Amino acid sequence: MNAYLLAGEEPVLISTGMRCHFEDTWTAIAQVLDPSTLRHIVVLHFESDECGALNEFLARAPRATALASMRTVMASLSDFAVRPVRGLGDGEVIVAGVHSLRVVEAPYVHAWDGIMLVEEQAQIVFSGDLFLQPGHAEPVIQNDRSSLSVQLYRTFYGTPPEVPLQRALDRVGASSPVLLAPGHGSVLGGNLVPYYRAYRQSVNALAALRPLTEATRERRSADDAPPRAPSLSREPS
Ligand SMILES: [Fe+2]
Ligand SMILES: [Fe+2]
Repeated sequence: MNAYLLAGEEPVLISTGMRCHFEDTWTAIAQVLDPSTLRHIVVLHFESDECGALNEFLARAPRATALASMRTVMASLSDFAVRPVRGLGDGEVIVAGVHSLRVVEAPYVHAWDGIMLVEEQAQIVFSGDLFLQPGHAEPVIQNDRSSLSVQLYRTFYGTPPEVPLQRALDRVGASSPVLLAPGHGSVLGGNLVPYYRAYRQSVNALAALRPLTEATRERRSADDAPPRAPSLSREPS
């Protein structure tokens, strides 16, 4: 599980990690800066690996504000968090010192309330659980793990709905990122086109199967239809 720290005069934490990992996450941040100076904590969607430790961070970082999509805030976070949280709109830019983080809503791409963030200076997309990969690998990799990523995504979360996924991929691609930073696995660099292609193909392949599925359903419903009662009237000869 990944959490990302953007250092600077207004430090940003993207995802808190789980509550049970809080002390480890706090200690890791302390190797870079004083964690009590955190100013922004962005929750990409409401799950324990994204915000399980949020209240522990808010308790020890008194100037920190939690930010999340309006969906996340209204449905969950405004009640869950011990301090008021701020809802983010699509396209809004979080200005945090030298960092500008543009919000890209991605509902139903994994989570119904999900957002991604585009760090505009360094051209990094923080993509939540999109582009995740399994296991412990190098922090940043260049080799192509796209098919593994799609396979893991579909194993855990099922097939994403086509329209929201295509739209999210369009918007990620339009940001021309140099790095994709997912919630699990390595940060992805190098040629990112295979990742967009693999995720698009994962839903296109399903679309190609649809006519076959519909044809099968029609045949089954014809097979399941009750047999026609024999006619009592004599057939005309
Ligand atoms: Fe998630
Ligand atoms: Fe996750």
